[in-house]
Amino acid sequence: MMIRDATADDLPAQMRLYPLAFPDEDLRPLLCRLASAPDVLSRVALDGPDVVGHLAVTPCLPVGVVLLGPVAIAPRCQRQGLGRRMITDAAALMATRGATQMQVLGDPGYYSRLGFRPDRALAPPYALPRDWDGAWQVMLLTDAPALTGQLQVPAIWADPALWGP
Ligand SMILES: CC(C)(COP(=O)(O)OP(=O)(O)OC[C@H]1O[C@@H](n2cnc3c(N)ncnc32)[C@H](O)[C@@H]1OP(=O)(O)O)[C@@H](O)C(=O)NCCC(=O)NCCS
Repeated sequence: MMIRDATADDLPAQMRLYPLAFPDEDLRPLLCRLASAPDVLSRVALDGPDVVGHLAVTPCLPVGVVLLGPVAIAPRCQRQGLGRRMITDAAALMATRGATQMQVLGDPGYYSRLGFRPDRALAPPYALPRDWDGAWQVMLLTDAPALTGQLQVPAIWADPALWGP
C-alpha cells in the first residue's frame, strides 16, 4: 500500500472512509476543516485506487508540539500494520519539520504499542473526563526535553466537544 500526502481530490474518498472507521461519531466536519488548513499534515493510504487510511497531524503551541488525529483505517485493512506504518511515517516527517513531540488523545491500549506514553507534563487544552486517565499521551520525536504547560490548539481543535465523550 502506498502512503502519500492527501490532495483535495482525495476528500470525497476520505468522506466515505470516515463513517466506516467511526460508525458511532461523525468526524466529517472536522475532516473538512483539517483538509483545508494549510499547516496540517494530511496523509492517505491507498490500496490500488482506494483510500483505505487517513491521518492528520496539526502543529500547535508551544512550538514543536504537534497533535495526531484523527487516524482512520478502513475496517477491511485494520490490524495489518497500516495504522502503525502511517503513524510512524507521520512522526518521522514531523520530526524533519522541527517537531519535538507528538500528542494524541486515544486508547492507550493501542497507542502505547507505538511508543506513546501517558503525558502528565503538557496538559491537554481542555480538562478530560476522569475515566480517560492515560488517554492523553505523548511520543517524543527527538532528544529534546518534554515540554510542560498546556497545549494551545488552533481554531480547528478549539471545540470542547472534540475533547469529551
Ligand atoms: C485504531 C486504528 C487506527 C489502528 O490501526 P490498525 O492499522 O488497525 O492497527 P495496526 O495493525 O497498525 O496495529 C498495531 C498494533 O496495535 C494493535 N492494535 C490494533 N488495533 C488495536 C486496538 N483497537 N486496541 C489495542 N491494540 C490494537 C495491533 O494488534 C498491533 O499490535 P502488535 O504490533 O503488537 O501486533 C484502526 O483500527 C482504526 O482506524 N480504528 C477505527 C478508528 C479509530 O478508533 N481511530 C483511532 C482513534 S482517532
